[in-house]
Amino acid sequence: MTKPVLEVLEGRRQAVPPVWLMRQAGRYLQEYWDVRRRVASFLELCFTPRLASEVTLQPIRRFGFDAAILFSDILVVPHALGQTVSFEIGRSPRLDPITDAAGLARLSDKLDQDVLAPVYETVRRVKAELPESVALLGFCGAPWTVATYMVAGKGTPDQAPARIFAYSDPESFGRLIDLLVESSVDYLARQLEAGTDAVQIFDTWAGVLSPDEFHRWCIAPTRRVVTELRRRVPNAKVIGFPRGAGSSLARYIDEVPVDAVGLDWMIDPTFAREDIQSRVPVQGNVDPIALMVGGAALDRAVDAVLAAFGTGPLIFNLGHGILPQTPVANVERMLARVRGASGA
Ligand code: CP3
Repeated sequence: MTKPVLEVLEGRRQAVPPVWLMRQAGRYLQEYWDVRRRVASFLELCFTPRLASEVTLQPIRRFGFDAAILFSDILVVPHALGQTVSFEIGRSPRLDPITDAAGLARLSDKLDQDVLAPVYETVRRVKAELPESVALLGFCGAPWTVATYMVAGKGTPDQAPARIFAYSDPESFGRLIDLLVESSVDYLARQLEAGTDAVQIFDTWAGVLSPDEFHRWCIAPTRRVVTELRRRVPNAKVIGFPRGAGSSLARYIDEVPVDAVGLDWMIDPTFAREDIQSRVPVQGNVDPIALMVGGAALDRAVDAVLAAFGTGPLIFNLGHGILPQTPVANVERMLARVRGASGA
């Protein structure tokens, strides 16, 4: 049996676009909280395969999405490099900030794979339980986005701490990026070897960079991740998601050999169809706020995505992660509209 998500990644448009949602496992689901409450910390949930696989499968059971995304976090990479990482409910993650060369020296020079072994075990467990038509996606953060959290030690609105580090000491910042390139390759290769069908590289903070810095810290390192990953896992399927890239997305797909690109909801749809989807399959891009609001606003947002991208290879998704306040009924409504309206 074929997996529609993989069909689209091969460039074949599906009559009804396959659907999954970024951050689909998580806080908007009651059943997620039932599991989350059983553990002392978020990282314990990520590193307990029995529970992480359960949480990965919850949205598949409830909604019948076409892809499951491994339940983990982009910040398990800094954790496995020896940086202290903690998550408190309702707050941005906390890390011990790295702001200079001396901070860098405290990190290991490679991932502690014993720490990450439970993540690969989760992949194997989910794989064994998924319906055959459902793709299993792995992921990591892009080097730039992971670095922004490592440097600031928390989420910030504009990622100024990492931009300051990158402008004032590009050589040291470049060494952090190099470490994250190597770590990401190793982490994604092992996810694929454990059974994920494709991987997504989340570059959530790509949009805060000037065009030159976008090239240096987003495009070039992501290109290395994808190229080196394919050296280890030939034909590895990769979805890139440089959020906020705007018109620089054209340069991204010129230089990063991804199989598909995630679109955020802010991008101009004509540009995205004519200059991007004509060259590479796209994924996206309903505004998560429209999904949260629901009703007619949601219907219009769904129809606009289908009108813009439904004639080409499309994986239907949001333009960024689902918000915790989103009513489950709105997700059902969106799915019904995509699966009903687009016809066969
Ligand atoms: O369903 C899925 O998509 C799989 C799991 C997943 C999580 N994080 C679980 C999580 C994925 C793919 C991520 C990616 C991630 N993590 C990104 C990139 C995508 C994006 O949304 O921008 C980023 C930037 C992070 C870092 C991170 N982790 C932040 C900023 C936070 C706190 C606030 C927030 O946005 O959720 C987390 C915590 C986190 N990661 C939670 C979950 C379910 C909430 C923790 C809890 O349950 O207490």
